[in-house]
Amino acid sequence: MTEQIATNSKYVDPFGRSIDYVRLSVTDRCDLRCFYCMPKGFNDFEEPDDWLTFDEIERVISAFTALGINKVRLTGGEPLLRKNLPELTHRLSKVCGVKDMSLSTNAVKLAKFAKPLFESGVQRLNVSLDCVNPEKFKSITGGGKFEKVFDGLMAAKQAGFSPIKINMVIMRDVNDDNVLNMIDFCAEHDFILRLIETMPMGSTGKEASQRYIPLDEIKQQLEQKFEMVPAVQRGAGPARYLSIPEKNLNIGFITPISQHFCETCNRVRLGVNGTLYLCLGQEHQYPLREILRSGVSDEELKEHLIKALSLKPKKHEFNEKPDNIIRIMSATGG
Ligand code: 5AD
Ligand code: SF4
Repeated sequence: MTEQIATNSKYVDPFGRSIDYVRLSVTDRCDLRCFYCMPKGFNDFEEPDDWLTFDEIERVISAFTALGINKVRLTGGEPLLRKNLPELTHRLSKVCGVKDMSLSTNAVKLAKFAKPLFESGVQRLNVSLDCVNPEKFKSITGGGKFEKVFDGLMAAKQAGFSPIKINMVIMRDVNDDNVLNMIDFCAEHDFILRLIETMPMGSTGKEASQRYIPLDEIKQQLEQKFEMVPAVQRGAGPARYLSIPEKNLNIGFITPISQHFCETCNRVRLGVNGTLYLCLGQEHQYPLREILRSGVSDEELKEHLIKALSLKPKKHEFNEKPDNIIRIMSATGG
């Protein structure tokens, strides 16, 4: 099979997957140091000169929409660290063809940015939060303050984000004892809880993967405690949802390791330095920065994107080759 542009102008990759979603890392820096993500003392960050500018981002996203991509998520590192982010989200919301714009954040700076981001056109919000115990939060994040995240979440609710999804990476003997507290917290505030299996990304992820728990185990524990029924939740992603009616809560299970979902993968990731990553768990990549800076025409840029997307591999190999990925999550854009 070869790649093709289908008649509805959606790009279909060589494995028959429609690619309609770009995750855009606007910085590789972060104001937390979650032990499973960034190595202690890490400072091998991209130089500002190598960051795609807002103009370049807008151009590349516009070019992507010509291939049928209609969903954009801003990620990091921590995206709120990128200066003037609401200006970028405002510009992207005006790009014809961007139908859905969302943001993933650790929420530390969200109290300040929730309202301007909502007003600039960000429609959906995911917040990374692995526990609601302030002491434990501090230890997992290398010194983070839970109150800041809490304030950020409240500001996001106030600003109008709904639903807000909370992403919790589950690790044995780290936060697996915090699932019930997270359920109560999310039920109380009307958030959606999503549990994620730890992936061996970079040296930190590899080490943390020793604490990997297949989510079936957690699901079984929860089923002993609660009635759980299948649920449907809007979103572009691989989460499978159950609801706990007595809590009026939806829980998503994201199982990249125990049950991968590569055959329906609809996304690519653009790093802050303009490298397009075709898979979270593989090294397939296509450098776009120099191309963007070389004065290419729109048509040439589109040809490059088609070439890049055609490199998307069939699946990750986290299980077969756990040493494969030396990039840490914040470099790829989570
Ligand atoms: N495995 C699973 N999730 C990870 N994240 C960062 N590193 C890993 C990993 N090794 C998550 C963060 C956040 C998102 C950006 O990626 O917790 O939810
Ligand atoms: Fe920062 Fe997210 Fe990595 Fe934690 S997981 S250090 S919040 S980029």
